[in-house]
Amino acid sequence: MRPSSSFGSLLPIALWLPTALAGSEFNWTTLEASTTLHWTPCYSAPLQCTLLQVPMDYSAPQNGVTASIAIVRYPSTSPKSQYRGPLLFNPGGPGGSGVDAIVASGADFVTVFGDQFDVIGFDPRGVSYSTPTISFFKTEAERRFLIPSAENVIFPSLNASSTALADTWSHMQLLSQLAAASNMNGYLQHMTTDNIARDMLQITEAFGFEKLQYWGISYGSVLGATFASLFPDKVGRLIIDGVEDMEGYYSGNLTNAMLDTDKAMQTFFDGCAKAGTEGCAFHAASASEMPAKLDALSSAIKTQPFPVIAPQSHGIVDILFLRNAILDAVYAPYDLFAPLARGLAVLATGNATLLYTQNEVPNFECDCTNSSAALPFHENNFESYMTIACGDPVPINDTVGELQTFYEATTKVSSFADLLASTRVVCAGWKIHREGRFQGPVGAKNTSFPLLLVGNTIDPVTAHASAVKTSMAFPGSVVLTQDSVGHTSLVAPSQCTFGHFKAYFVNGTLPAPGTVCSVEAELFPSGSNNITVKRAAENSEDWKVREAANNIGRVMRKILRRTL
Ligand SMILES: *[C@@H]1O[C@H](CO)[C@@H](O)[C@H](O)[C@H]1NC(C)=O
Ligand SMILES: *[C@@H]1O[C@H](CO)[C@@H](O)[C@H](O)[C@H]1NC(C)=O
Ligand SMILES: *[C@@H]1O[C@H](CO)[C@@H](O)[C@H](O)[C@H]1NC(C)=O
Ligand SMILES: *[C@@H]1O[C@H](CO)[C@@H](O)[C@H](O)[C@H]1NC(C)=O
Ligand SMILES: *[C@@H]1O[C@H](CO)[C@@H](O)[C@H](O)[C@H]1NC(C)=O
Ligand SMILES: *[C@@H]1O[C@H](CO)[C@@H](O)[C@H](O)[C@H]1NC(C)=O
Ligand SMILES: *[C@@H]1O[C@H](CO)[C@@H](O)[C@H](O)[C@H]1NC(C)=O
Ligand SMILES: *[C@@H]1O[C@H](CO)[C@@H](O)[C@H](O)[C@H]1NC(C)=O
Ligand SMILES: *[C@@H]1O[C@H](CO)[C@@H](O)[C@H](O)[C@H]1NC(C)=O
Repeated sequence: MRPSSSFGSLLPIALWLPTALAGSEFNWTTLEASTTLHWTPCYSAPLQCTLLQVPMDYSAPQNGVTASIAIVRYPSTSPKSQYRGPLLFNPGGPGGSGVDAIVASGADFVTVFGDQFDVIGFDPRGVSYSTPTISFFKTEAERRFLIPSAENVIFPSLNASSTALADTWSHMQLLSQLAAASNMNGYLQHMTTDNIARDMLQITEAFGFEKLQYWGISYGSVLGATFASLFPDKVGRLIIDGVEDMEGYYSGNLTNAMLDTDKAMQTFFDGCAKAGTEGCAFHAASASEMPAKLDALSSAIKTQPFPVIAPQSHGIVDILFLRNAILDAVYAPYDLFAPLARGLAVLATGNATLLYTQNEVPNFECDCTNSSAALPFHENNFESYMTIACGDPVPINDTVGELQTFYEATTKVSSFADLLASTRVVCAGWKIHREGRFQGPVGAKNTSFPLLLVGNTIDPVTAHASAVKTSMAFPGSVVLTQDSVGHTSLVAPSQCTFGHFKAYFVNGTLPAPGTVCSVEAELFPSGSNNITVKRAAENSEDWKVREAANNIGRVMRKILRRTL
C-alpha cells in the first residue's frame, strides 16, 4: 500500500529542500564529543572530523544536557603567520548537511578562497551526523512511508485537485503530532536558528578565535543574519548569498520569495526563442509564442501522463513532474535550461524517457524488516527542515480556509504559487515553539565588520529586493549584485563575484556599493557561446577558480535538491 497520490507527492519546500548525499562514508559514532576540538582523519585526506559538545539549552547550560555538532575541516596549509582561522559554510535548507557540502567540495573552496582558512562544514544541531538526531519515527520504513522523499516529485501542488490543500494540511498535522509524540525529552524546541547561531560562535571560539567568518547561501542567509543580530560584535567576515525575506521567514509567510519566479521563467522563454534551433530544442519562432507552446504540452500531459521505467528507477511523468522539472531548471538555469528544452522537445513527440531520466531520483530501497539497519540514519533532512523552519517563526494556526485564502493571494504574485506556497501549509499545526527564541526582526545598529550581501538580478526564490531590504537593517553592509538568473551566486561562475568574495575574506575589502558582476556562462550555450571553446581561449588559472565555483554550486544543488 502506498499513500494516495496527493500524499505521495508531498515534499513541501521553501527554497532548497535538503537531501543527504549518498556515498558519504565515515562512522561518526566512533567519535566522542568534547568541548574542545580533537581532529580525526575522516573520509579522504586531508579531511578531518570532530564532534563538538554544546549546551542543548543555552538558557540553562548548567543542566548538563548537551548536543553534539558534527564538524569537518579541510585544513589550511598556509604558514602560521598567514593562517586566518575557520571559515564556516552553511548550504541552506534549513536542514542541509554542511559536512556533506565540505566533504564534496572542500578542495574547491581552497581553489576559490586560498589556503589561509580552515574550511569548515558543520551539521546544524539535529541534522544528519549531529546528535541527538531530529527524528519523528521509530523505523526507516515508517519514515519513508510518511515522508516519501524518494519520490520524483519535490513540490506538491496545492492546486492539484479540489482537496489537495486540505490533504497537504492534514498530512502535515499528522507529522506535527508525530513530532510532538517523539519529543518526550523536549529536545526539538532547542533546534532553532538562534541556537545554531550560538553553536557557530562556540565553534569559532573552540578554534581560539573571537569572531565568526562565514558564508551562507539560501536559508544560510537567515542563519547569518540571525547571528549578526544576536552577536553584532562577533562578526569577523559574513557573506550571505541568496538572501531570504527575513521578516517573511520569521512570520511563516514566504510570499516575497516568489516575487521574481515568473521573471526567471520568462528568461527561459526569451532565451530559448532567441537561441533557435541550434541552442534550444524547444524553441518557437518568437518568445511570445513560447508560453502557449509549453501550455499545449502541459494540457496534453494532464490528459495523458507517461509511466517510465528507467534503468535506475521508475516513475510517472505527469503534470506535477513536468512543473517540478521546470521549477528545478529555473533554480539552476545555466546548467538546466538547455537539457530541459531537450526533454520537453522529446516529450512533445510522445517520449517521456529523457525528461524523466534528467530528473529522476533513485526509488526507495531499504532492509525494512531490520531496524538495526535502519538506524542510525542520515537522511533526516525533511524532519530537520520541518523542525527548524516551523519552530523558528510564530505559530501558524491557520485553518484550511485561511490557508486557501493565503494560497489564492500568492497566485497573484507567481504562477508557481501552487508549488511554493506550501511552505506555510507545512508549518500550520506545528506545536513545538520555545519561549524566548529569536524571532526577529534581524538587524543591528553596528556590526564589528560590515556584512556582504549577494543577490542575483533574477532569483526565483530569494528576490533581489530581499537582499536590499536586509542590507538596510545592517548599516555599513553592501549588496553585491550578480547579473544572472537562478538561485544564489553559485548558479554560474563569475570571476568578478568570487574575486570580491576573496578580497572580502582575505583583505576585508568590500565591493563599492552598486557593484554589478557579470557571469561567464550562457543560458543556451552554442556556437561562439560554447563554454568549452571559450575556456580554451582564456587564462587557465581564472578558469580553475570559475570551475571550482561552479562545482561548489553543483554540489550544493545535489545536497539541496535531488535533481543533479
Ligand atoms: C560504527 O562505530 C560504532 C562504535 O564503534 C559501532 O558500534 C558500529 O557498529 C559502527 N557502525 C558501522 C556501520 O560500522
Ligand atoms: C488550478 O487548477 C484549475 C483546474 O485545473 C485551473 O483551472 C486553474 O487555472 C489552476 N489555478 C492556478 C492558479 O494554477
Ligand atoms: C504575507 O506577505 C505578503 C507580502 O508581504 C502580504 O501581502 C500578505 O498579507 C501576508 N499574508 C499573511 C497571511 O500574513
Ligand atoms: C525515447 O527516448 C529515449 C531517450 O532519449 C530513447 O532511448 C528511446 O529509444 C526513445 N523511445 C522511443 C520509443 O522512441
Ligand atoms: C541488520 O542490519 C545490521 C546493520 O546494518 C547488520 O549488521 C545485520 O546483519 C542485519 N541483520 C539482518 C538479519 O539482515
Ligand atoms: C496561535 O495559537 C497560539 C496558541 O493559541 C497563540 O498564542 C498564537 O498567537 C497564535 N498564532 C497566530 C499567528 O495567530
Ligand atoms: C561600528 O563598530 C566598529 C568596530 O567595532 C567601529 O570601528 C565603528 O566606529 C562603529 N561605528 C559606529 C557608527 O558606531
Ligand atoms: C589583498 O591585498 C594585497 C595588498 O594590497 C593584494 O596584493 C592582494 O591581491 C589582495 N588580495 C585579494 C584577494 O584581493
Ligand atoms: C562545444 O564545443 C566542443 C568542442 O568543439 C564540442 O565538443 C561540444 O559539443 C560543444 N558544446 C555545445 C553545447 O555546443
